[in-house]
Amino acid sequence: MCGIVGYCGPKPAAPILIEGLKRLEYRGYDSAGICVGNHGELTIIKKKGKLHALDAAVPDGLQGYWGIGHTRWATHGEVNDLNAHPHSDQSGRIAIVHNGIIENYGALREKLQHEGYAFRTETDSEVIAHLLSSLYEGNLEQALKRTCAILKGTYGIVAMHQDEPDQLVGARNGSPLVLGIGENEMLLGSDVTALIAHTRQVVYIEDGEVVRVTPNNYRTTDLRDRRIDKKVDTISWELEEIEKGNYRCFMEKEIFEQPESIRRAFQGRIDHEHATAHLGGLNMSNRELLEIERIKLVAAGTSYHAGMVSSYLMENLARIPCNAELASELRYRNPIVERNSIYFAISQSGETADTLYALRELQRKGARVLGICNVVGSTIARESDGGVYIHSGPEIAVASTKAFTSQLTALYLYTLLIARMRDMSWEQGHRFIEALESIPALTQSILERHAEVEALARKYCQAQNFLFLGRGINYPVALEGALKLKEISYIHAEGYSAAEIKHGPIALINEQTPSLFIVPDDGLREKVISNMKEVKARKGPVIALAVDGDREVAAIADDVFSVPRAGQYIYPFAMMIPLQLFAYYCALELGRDVDQPRNLAKSVTVE
Ligand code: M6R
Repeated sequence: MCGIVGYCGPKPAAPILIEGLKRLEYRGYDSAGICVGNHGELTIIKKKGKLHALDAAVPDGLQGYWGIGHTRWATHGEVNDLNAHPHSDQSGRIAIVHNGIIENYGALREKLQHEGYAFRTETDSEVIAHLLSSLYEGNLEQALKRTCAILKGTYGIVAMHQDEPDQLVGARNGSPLVLGIGENEMLLGSDVTALIAHTRQVVYIEDGEVVRVTPNNYRTTDLRDRRIDKKVDTISWELEEIEKGNYRCFMEKEIFEQPESIRRAFQGRIDHEHATAHLGGLNMSNRELLEIERIKLVAAGTSYHAGMVSSYLMENLARIPCNAELASELRYRNPIVERNSIYFAISQSGETADTLYALRELQRKGARVLGICNVVGSTIARESDGGVYIHSGPEIAVASTKAFTSQLTALYLYTLLIARMRDMSWEQGHRFIEALESIPALTQSILERHAEVEALARKYCQAQNFLFLGRGINYPVALEGALKLKEISYIHAEGYSAAEIKHGPIALINEQTPSLFIVPDDGLREKVISNMKEVKARKGPVIALAVDGDREVAAIADDVFSVPRAGQYIYPFAMMIPLQLFAYYCALELGRDVDQPRNLAKSVTVE
């Protein structure tokens, strides 16, 4: 989704803004622009397309030490130079960048037009520039407060005025905004990746707050001008973590980081002596944990699939009813919050609007909602009633990979904790921990055989349609495999329970439609083999993800990739790695933009 960066300090602003926007590219965008202030004059440059188009349009040595930049992911109005941000008022003295959606922009636009303001774009955001102008009485910060009081919808806004040099003002409502405190310089960004090359000291701006920054100062207030003292946080990420290093793209890097990111997710959280997990951030006593009678896992996309996998584990091991729900559906169906139920909002970014609004709706009804997030300090992490960070490190590629396996790890630990308070014996707990601790080495051994998956991708990547099929705990893994393939390769892929194909999807089977079956050696293996035979009988090509030495599967499938034998609950990790690799190599073979697939955004901050 859209990205924001702002700078004021002693250095030329334009290169810093462009560099900040480059770090935000991963969020997905279709146009970009900057505004730089110099000697009481604002220069706006904006371009449709990727950042190199903007970079090329910026004159060498563009002067100016304060400015704002934006990457736009179109919502209102087509993708063109004009609709790109920054937007200015008609006098050209005020410039703004905006993330989010202004819901009452239609009425405001009409009113402002009536008052003589001429609009140049089709965007909702332009209304902010004119509103600011109409409410400006010599102080931009105060004008922004008056503007925010009128706006309805979501926003992260940063604005500048040519008569107030070396100063930026920002406001937030539902769209993230972070202040970076540097040495004699201040930055504003929609996320910390835009700031991290310059400072580690950050302040998270909250909804309803306004921030004013000058090179050596900042102040945060609410819309009624009351001062708010903010905590300064220190970012622990290293710059290399948001760089590709020797990898071709971030997705490749992130897939290969998984042995380490999974280890980080369980490190320090296993209590070997009592064969259980330590999850301090939950903020719950043992008594409260014991009283839980139902668990709901609320999320979107890949995080939802991680929730689905975990619900199988939770019911099997802890014997507590547990189900995963799409946040976007839950919010609008007036959910029933039962006593003694606990909710988890699972989100890599911690900013997904659907998940955030579901969390708020649940909390409003009195539910306790815990967060499973990657991004420290993100909105969901801050607003939840406790939770677990997955510590994957920054995930930059739009397609989520390492966050999925780390979310699973965190939820597996939570299951262990709950299960050990109920039926799971010390010995079972101990075996479960052993299995969990074997995952980094297991995934490493699978990654080392990446060339085998690459060969499969080369063979099958011209197919127009794919079915991904699994059963039980591996059914959501099939869904996730299909999601990965479609989002980065644009090959149409459907994930199904292998049992379900006879109820409809089998009609799609023909010689051109490969089916990828997940066949671990668990209690459902025989059933899945029968489903494979049904596809073979209809001349459908079959690829199997099986277990080493499974000759029966090898005899039926056209191609097999086998993983080492593992505990039944560990297969979702083992099977996911080749599925991620398969999607990645198909996309690479087809020449797709792997890290920034078309139409997609990393952090989906609009509903
Ligand atoms: O940041 P979140 O985990 O809340 O994101 C949820 C989905 O938008 C995300 O998983 C999306 O489906 C990914 N592009 C999948 O790879």
